[in-house]
Amino acid sequence: MVAIDGPAGAGKSTIARELARKLSLPYLDTGAMYRGITCAVLRKGIDVHDVDAVAQLALSTVLDISDDALVVDGVDATQDIRGEAVTRAVSAVAANSGVRSELRERQRQWVAERGGGVVEGRDIATVVFPDARLKVFLTASPLVRAQRRVAQIGGDVEQIARDIAERDHKDSTRSDSPLRESENALFVDTSDRSIGEVVNEIVGVFHG
Ligand code: DC
Repeated sequence: MVAIDGPAGAGKSTIARELARKLSLPYLDTGAMYRGITCAVLRKGIDVHDVDAVAQLALSTVLDISDDALVVDGVDATQDIRGEAVTRAVSAVAANSGVRSELRERQRQWVAERGGGVVEGRDIATVVFPDARLKVFLTASPLVRAQRRVAQIGGDVEQIARDIAERDHKDSTRSDSPLRESENALFVDTSDRSIGEVVNEIVGVFHG
């Protein structure tokens, strides 16, 4: 079991996917789960700040996660969860303790059913799987992170840098399981390094 945490744009998803492939382990993107619940909230027209209604909805929302798709309550949401509306609203949903406890349980169950995996998110090493065999904290400079997002989804670098800074702030200052580096995590700054280099380093540490 490998737990990978870090802020948006650090290269987590690309690196975690490639790592999972190399280690022949299943891969879970927990950010997609928070995005999936957010999508359900927006579809129902519920106010993201209505803590009780959002927590209640999370309990009944069916997330069908596969490597390259997410189906929310039977309707494909693969594109929607990467869209602007979900991206803007997801931090509020991810700060909801009812949502977090529900998704934590589902994440543990997912790993238990498969006997391991490469799991990425914000609180994976610190809270969800503190006993993971390997914990990794990935980061990159704010400028590089913004440039990567622009390369993926387009937009203005300065605006995206501001959005990322705002989301980082929300994710790392919320009271329930904020983004933090786990004490014994392997710290990797991906700013000036290729995906391949980083993956090889992590594979080496995993086997070492
Ligand atoms: O990694 P991402 O950008 O898809 O994550 C979407 C949001 O979900 C982000 O605001 C942080 C939050 N998140 C979280 O709080 N805990 C996780 N384990 C994963 C994501």
